[in-house]
Amino acid sequence: MCDAASGRTLGMVPTMGALHEGHLSLIRRARAENDSVYVSIFVNPVQFNNAEDLEKYPRTLDEDVRLIGDSADYVFAPSVEEVFPVPPTEVYDFGTVASVMEGASRPGHFNGVGVIVRRLLEWVRPHKAYFGEKDYQQIAVIREMCRQCRILSEVIPCPIVREPNGLAMSSRNRRLSREEFETAANIHRILEESKQFSNAGEISHFVENEIGKVPGFKLDYFQLADSATLLPVTDMAAHEGVMGFITVYVGSIRLIDNVCYR
Ligand code: PAF
Repeated sequence: MCDAASGRTLGMVPTMGALHEGHLSLIRRARAENDSVYVSIFVNPVQFNNAEDLEKYPRTLDEDVRLIGDSADYVFAPSVEEVFPVPPTEVYDFGTVASVMEGASRPGHFNGVGVIVRRLLEWVRPHKAYFGEKDYQQIAVIREMCRQCRILSEVIPCPIVREPNGLAMSSRNRRLSREEFETAANIHRILEESKQFSNAGEISHFVENEIGKVPGFKLDYFQLADSATLLPVTDMAAHEGVMGFITVYVGSIRLIDNVCYR
């Protein structure tokens, strides 16, 4: 589909729809850096390890297409049957980047991400594919998938876009009540405040303690990790880049965020 022979560049933004300003920022970046922009909208069933989460994932195709407007040249919104005429059977080993944190907490999730992103990138063959850094670990997994599957598209990470209250934008935010939405802002606040500490143990203790104080929060995990390998960090000074990765249930909604310490 990509017009590589013409020398024109194609940027792709893979999404699961329920678009928000974070997605639109990816589309704008793709538009600024490429001749054509391709957006896919597909709620990928094989990356959900929780049937209720899949069922309740917001689906707002008409509104998504309206929001995209003229900012993309192609919108691809296939059905599950078109993408998976038979259930996919691929089993990948993406190594450590896929086994820690989200990989451990959501078994099968990254395999499902690998399955769909590989198909999309092989079908569309974009020069560049744009992903948001809220899903920082997902970007590492997609890079590894591209390496293993010899996909030449360049993976472009893009900064997290936040609500005015600091909450990282996510399609799942739509499922929060007004009160939960306000409470969820504490995730970013606590991560930012944890930057006052320079010792790994103190940071983890602070975050876990503060999250525990917020009514309605249930911490899934907070993990300090090397920003390149995603391996756990216990000694901040021993790593060039260190990030904190958090997953919190706000009521029944599972939200993720991250922070960069160095
Ligand atoms: O980040 C997402 O929205 C999804 O995981 C992706 C990359 C579109 C694959 O379904």
